[in-house]
Amino acid sequence: MTRLLGIDLGTSSVKAIIIDEQAHILGVGSREYPINVPQPGWAEQNPDDWWQATILAIRQAQQQAGQQPVDAIGFSGQMHGTVLIDSRKQPIGPAIIWADQRTADEVAEITEIIGVDQLARIAGTAPAAGFMGPTVCWLRKHDPARLDKARACLLPKDYVRLRLTGDVGTDATDASSSALFDVRQRQWSDVILEALDLPDHLWPNVFESADVAGALTTSAAEVLGLEVGIPVVAGCGDQPAQAVGNGLIDPGIGSITIGTGGQLFAPQSRPQADPLLRLHTFCHAPADRWFIMGAMLSAGLSLRWLRDLHGMTADPDAYPKLSALAAAVPPGADGLLFLPYLVGERSPIMDARARGSFVGLALGHGLGHMARAIMEGVAFAMRQILDVMLGVDVPVSQLLASGGGLAAPLWRQIVADVLNRPLLLASGQERAGVGAAVIAGVGIGTYSSYAEARRAVITPYEVTEPDPQRAAFYDEHYQRFLQLYPLLKPVMHDLTR
Ligand code: XUL
Repeated sequence: MTRLLGIDLGTSSVKAIIIDEQAHILGVGSREYPINVPQPGWAEQNPDDWWQATILAIRQAQQQAGQQPVDAIGFSGQMHGTVLIDSRKQPIGPAIIWADQRTADEVAEITEIIGVDQLARIAGTAPAAGFMGPTVCWLRKHDPARLDKARACLLPKDYVRLRLTGDVGTDATDASSSALFDVRQRQWSDVILEALDLPDHLWPNVFESADVAGALTTSAAEVLGLEVGIPVVAGCGDQPAQAVGNGLIDPGIGSITIGTGGQLFAPQSRPQADPLLRLHTFCHAPADRWFIMGAMLSAGLSLRWLRDLHGMTADPDAYPKLSALAAAVPPGADGLLFLPYLVGERSPIMDARARGSFVGLALGHGLGHMARAIMEGVAFAMRQILDVMLGVDVPVSQLLASGGGLAAPLWRQIVADVLNRPLLLASGQERAGVGAAVIAGVGIGTYSSYAEARRAVITPYEVTEPDPQRAAFYDEHYQRFLQLYPLLKPVMHDLTR
């Protein structure tokens, strides 16, 4: 039996998933690590925390899977963030991760220098706060000594792979999430790097996701309890990894995810960007595929904020309780609307200075109204992204529902009603980690192609149909939601100056 290990380096924890060639999960391990916020709006992590957590997660997964030899290792990683390493391959200071919002000025500068048309043509994306491009420009301005010491800029999962193999490199999916990459050529963009006057020694070798990028070193094998020399593939960002885990390789079927953030994802057979840069077009894991994605920052995070605010953090039933309260409130939450921009927003408004808001608060509103308004506000923000996608002719015939938020029946129904589309809920678990393991299998030939791997990962779906009456109501209510951001934007910007 072939055993494939996927390491899913998330934002709050790392998961290690061991599967067989039928993509059955044999073992799961996971460990959390903190996000450090040294200043408001900043978000940093310690790369060594990732490594220590990865060791424990792999050992736990291996124990569950019966300590059998592993044939290959793959990666899924939180995207966009930056780890600087020095000439001894040691990290220089903390990683600045995707959730970091310090670079609003750099985002504006880069957009001005490169121009929207050229960004759409080459990078497939606007720079956004937390992306490697703006972060490196920020470091050059605010911490030049640190950048001077750097010998390479890595994405988060590339640092963990470095600890496994000793090799410095990245892959096309993660590199394309930097806004410094040429998505068509699948290599760093000389045009963008030169225009921004960024040093050319910082950009690591770019692999395709299933390329074998190295082998497990003796020292790593020892701490992980694995065998020396296991092939390690380059892997990919968490969004494309999750798509591979869900079998989303070809255009047509897309996915909608509500986790901490929220994403709408659609595979492409050629890179076609939104000319107004409200969405991201990045390289997908197969070398002949791309994807277009809208990413919102506070989806599940908005409900978590409400949970914590109400002292329910330690309550394991907090989310079912909030759902029950929200279910007792009618659609529209008795006139309460929520804008989910708690940490700024990416798609479609691309505004690091946007802020959240409840509009229409009244004396009769309670916790259930707020919970329902949050679920509806996130659904409206998703619909806004879907409308932009359909407006640039991305074919999305069906939508797969994914992530903890959409596992909850009420929230899934609200999203189906707001989008007025059926949602297909797949029964498989840990899709990003499974995707990472499957990519390792493509790399060593367990699967002859991504298309063959797809047959292993597909699981039965549960369908949530929209209700026509509620859909009609939400159609009207959505128009009110759309009016709010343009009205409030000047105030939000004033407040965050
Ligand atoms: C995608 C995004 C997140 C991160 C963190 O654009 O920002 O999915 O990859 O998981």
